[in-house]
Amino acid sequence: GSPETVTPTGAPTGAPPESKAQQGEYLTTAQGARLRSTDHALKAGPRGPVLLQDHHLREKITHFDHERIPERVVHARGTGAHGVFVANGRAEKICRAAFLKKGVETDVFVRFSTVAGFRGSSDTVRDTRGFATKFYTSEGNYDLVGNNIPVFFIQEGIKFPDIVHAVKPEPDREIPQAQSAHDTFWDFVSLHTEAQAHVAWSMSDRAIPLSYRMMEGFGIHTFRLINEAGETSLVKFHWKPKQGIHSQVWEETQMTAGNDPDFHRRDLYDAIDAGAFPSYDLGVQVMPDSDDETFEGIDLLDPTKIVPEELCPVEIIGTMTLNRRPTNFFAEVEQVMFNPGNLVPGIDITNDPLLQVRLFSYIDTQITRLGGPNFSQIPINRAHCPVNDMFRDGFHQHAVHGGVAPYRPNSLDGGNPAVADDDSGAFIDVPQRVEGAKVRELSESFDDHFSQATLFVRSLTDVERQHLTRAYVFELGKCYEESIRVRQLQCLANIDADLCAEVAKALGLPAPEPTVPPAADVEPSPALSQIRGTWP
Ligand code: HEM
Repeated sequence: GSPETVTPTGAPTGAPPESKAQQGEYLTTAQGARLRSTDHALKAGPRGPVLLQDHHLREKITHFDHERIPERVVHARGTGAHGVFVANGRAEKICRAAFLKKGVETDVFVRFSTVAGFRGSSDTVRDTRGFATKFYTSEGNYDLVGNNIPVFFIQEGIKFPDIVHAVKPEPDREIPQAQSAHDTFWDFVSLHTEAQAHVAWSMSDRAIPLSYRMMEGFGIHTFRLINEAGETSLVKFHWKPKQGIHSQVWEETQMTAGNDPDFHRRDLYDAIDAGAFPSYDLGVQVMPDSDDETFEGIDLLDPTKIVPEELCPVEIIGTMTLNRRPTNFFAEVEQVMFNPGNLVPGIDITNDPLLQVRLFSYIDTQITRLGGPNFSQIPINRAHCPVNDMFRDGFHQHAVHGGVAPYRPNSLDGGNPAVADDDSGAFIDVPQRVEGAKVRELSESFDDHFSQATLFVRSLTDVERQHLTRAYVFELGKCYEESIRVRQLQCLANIDADLCAEVAKALGLPAPEPTVPPAADVEPSPALSQIRGTWP
């Protein structure tokens, strides 16, 4: 068929979202019938009971009763803004994506978030921050769904329910709202030692940013880029804020959380209203696409590992400026959906076992959260280029599809829309060779759980290091179970003996001996220290 997709108003999807103002000369029902009053229900006499036949009352109350949709299962608390991304062309040699060609301007929508708290929780808690960007490119939507911490707690997506159940409020008392201050969190991360690098970042000032305008973003996984010649490279994505990188100090977070739980949201919108548009450079670390997918001994498929910038510098490929806040928070910030599988020609995935599972999870959860499979038609999620999918029907179908029926091959509907199986601008799945026995195992190259935590801890300046130590002491001090504190101290002994000794002393516990060979040869990476950048 010819499933051209149109919106209820007849505009093709891809047109900029229409805004439906709730205004007019008179008030009507949802069906357009003019109303006499919306302040009084229909009653049997002015002092009598309300009548069931009041269809306007029932329409009004019923709609209100269903105003809420489920919040995100993670990253529920968020804030978004519109902007524009301008490419500088330096990615052209490694990537064929149209939006990365020199001078191309692309509309974007960004959602910043905390991970653990509910939708109404406080902005300045200690937590990882989400940094998710939707690029409305001429070749379809591209989502870069990242965080402000470049490593992740787990190596395999199958463990995501475990880490999230450990992080979220405990089921009996539903506390705490923050990520780290409780037994189940420390229990999980001390048993599950691949989490230790992310934990070290979480205990650092990185997890209490001063502003969304002043934090970095990371794609974390390694992605595979394809250029015009069909050559591939492996890359990691970085967002670098032009405002510099700044954090609050812990005591300050306590004050802002109390005085203004919306601190980060207000900061972002006040800056945009004042015309001080925040901007961020997008950069890539480019590594050769080798058979073993490693770089300088680091397994590029392991999402608990970074590649230090000293080993592979970040090359800037464009700049994003956030210049418009949402008109309607629900329509834009709550209804936006991101998906690491929303890719454009020139950007492909790798076999990172965390990324592979994310590709399934986002669509699946959004079918529940956004009430069915048609969430791509919600204005904030629509592509800004023509859409010609073969989907039909489903909950909340807003398009009026023409033609006989969407199937291929099809001789009844004036031919088939072209499917580009050649080089004509379609998405490219890199024909990467795959072989191996079917096993529930992970490569041995993922086994090192401590050296990157050591790298991070040793890269901090003295004051950052003091903050880190105090954070471990404070957060572990909230554990009820001593055995969990002892087990986490064992992890710290494996990361850095001095850090372990300081935390153990403050907790009144003995400092254990390491159980893995000390990582003496870990060189600090000054680029990991947060104290850099300039004030805006
Ligand atoms: C939501 C980042 C791993 C499942 C999000 C959001 C971000 C994010 C930024 C919020 C998106 C928004 O603002 O709407 C990451 C990063 C990961 C990671 C950087 C690791 C590198 C995972 C994994 C899974 C997962 C492994 C599942 C296996 C989800 C789900 C949501 C979510 C279900 C809610 C989506 C929605 O309701 O729209 N993630 N995530 N994430 N993530 Fe992840």
